[in-house]
Amino acid sequence: MKIAVIGCGTVGSGFLELLDEKQALLKDKYNFTPGLVAISDPKVGSIYHEGGLNIKKILSLIENRDNINDYPYGEKGWDSLKTIKDSNADTIVEASPTNIETGEPGLTHIRTALEMGKNVATTNKGPIALAYHKLHDIALRQGCELRFEGTVIAGTPAINLTIYPLAGIKIKEVKGIVNGTTNYILTRMESGMSYEEALREAQQKGYAETIPDADVKGWDAVAKIIIIANVLMGGNVTVGDVERKGIDNITLDEVQQALKDNKHWKLIARAGKENGSIKASVTPEVLGEDDPLSRITGVTNAICFTTDVLRDITISGPGAGRRETGFALLSDLIDINRVKGGK
Ligand code: HSE
Repeated sequence: MKIAVIGCGTVGSGFLELLDEKQALLKDKYNFTPGLVAISDPKVGSIYHEGGLNIKKILSLIENRDNINDYPYGEKGWDSLKTIKDSNADTIVEASPTNIETGEPGLTHIRTALEMGKNVATTNKGPIALAYHKLHDIALRQGCELRFEGTVIAGTPAINLTIYPLAGIKIKEVKGIVNGTTNYILTRMESGMSYEEALREAQQKGYAETIPDADVKGWDAVAKIIIIANVLMGGNVTVGDVERKGIDNITLDEVQQALKDNKHWKLIARAGKENGSIKASVTPEVLGEDDPLSRITGVTNAICFTTDVLRDITISGPGAGRRETGFALLSDLIDINRVKGGK
């Protein structure tokens, strides 16, 4: 597998760190020896070398100088589309920032790669929330893989778990906490911290989106519940269909008052069937202690899938973070290697 990384910010560099760290494990356990051939990012720069790049060297350049233009050899300055089209990469890791209105630039990146028969692993929620069915069709037609585990609660398995190990199951209803930043903020407000300070902490820890409004106004959770509804429940939900309310108007007083009554504010995403079609919503709710989701704190997220055979299946784990989301890309690549004939 020859990999090009498109978008090398928090998540892209977290992925590269894991790819480097886990090389021996990948070789021993799966006989999998992926190589990095290109990176293209508007901020850290672009580098392509068909024979492969040294990941440690790349990471140290990013860490020390925030750019990779000092890499000793290779082509510099290729933009994302040239890298996708003209590099010898057969697999594109797409980790550019989410835009839930247009899906761009990720949508064009992913469409271009799939049209060329290149596999894609992405953490970018926009393209999958807006155009999953179309992108999936292109991948099927071109005989390549489209994976996106990291679009929903980071590397905690939500998408792949329900598509592969739970193949044949029908998901009837979903209720969950699917945004790490807002859950972190609400938990910190329970210990008395102001909304602004808690948001700053979430940004410093690499949980928040590039524009944090996406988290606190509920847009990020909207993208995730659309992905769940359309990919896992066969829906055709669009952004405008989802009832949405964020946490930006919840006051410290309200959070503290609920706590005194043993209750907890949570941003809850739901999807379920109503009059024959899938309805989805994202709204803050006050949960009593008897609701298991009330005990999900900090950046931890949880999703409860109500199914036809196994009743309720709940998964819980990190919902955001540099390595936690980077891991989703790694696990997608390992699975692409497996379906393409590896171990
Ligand atoms: N900003 C997102 C969150 C990142 O806080 O959940 C993971 O999608």
